[in-house]
Amino acid sequence: MQLTVDYIKEKIGDFKPEIGIILGSGLGDFADSFESIVVPYNEIPGFQKSNVAGHKGQLVFAEVNGKKVVMMQGRYHFYEGYSMQTVTYPVKVMKKLGVQTLIITNAAGAVSGEFAPGELMFITDHINFMGTNPLIGANDDSLGTRFPDMSEVYKEELIELAEDIAEKLGISYQKGVYVATTGPSYETPAEVNMFRKLGGNAVGMSTVPEAIVANYCGLKVMGISCLTNYAAGVSDYPLNHQEVIDTANRVKESFKELLSEFIKQI
Ligand code: HPA
Repeated sequence: MQLTVDYIKEKIGDFKPEIGIILGSGLGDFADSFESIVVPYNEIPGFQKSNVAGHKGQLVFAEVNGKKVVMMQGRYHFYEGYSMQTVTYPVKVMKKLGVQTLIITNAAGAVSGEFAPGELMFITDHINFMGTNPLIGANDDSLGTRFPDMSEVYKEELIELAEDIAEKLGISYQKGVYVATTGPSYETPAEVNMFRKLGGNAVGMSTVPEAIVANYCGLKVMGISCLTNYAAGVSDYPLNHQEVIDTANRVKESFKELLSEFIKQI
């Protein structure tokens, strides 16, 4: 960990990020709009080599609306075969670099029929359906406690701020519970039905590992899903990845606008 942090500090000099952002599907180019210092994952000691097509895989350090920000352009997914440690390692590194607030974004399927594809969902809580936990293993007491409280992972004050901004910008949003599965197969209609009965509103294949580790490290978390499709069985057409990409692209300009204003006002 120290090797990783030292390497990055050498690249960024006295730039001290206070906000971290994990850019989900379709949002990656948010990071391209700013003058930045770019550090590819493949060059960072301690980061797994990533070789996913179309995945930039880099940390982007930039000043955004007066705030010092580190953005993850591309994330490690559990379904790609990376360990939970690999998936969440960048969050620990962000903490060591001085980050205090982490904004986690993703694409997700709408489990609730009243939620429409193209809407944003501010995550109020999550259900970890991945069948594992990124904190399993020896605990690093310098980062957090063995049994962290999870009563308010997604901070109410941040959700309220996002709501205010969305209303001012005229962006349609929902609030709800995100259910994480491992993927990579999408859910069956029976699974989606179960998630709805359990209180889930959206389903996706990321975010929860990073949110667990961020909360453990004492970071304030804001989670935003771009609802890209109805989850299986909510509507009667089959799911495909192209729809996820298309909707994410359709929404990305307003998502970026919201993100930019959110960073300004945090
Ligand atoms: N399920 C799981 N993950 C997803 C979905 C979905 O319907 N849409 C985008 N990511």
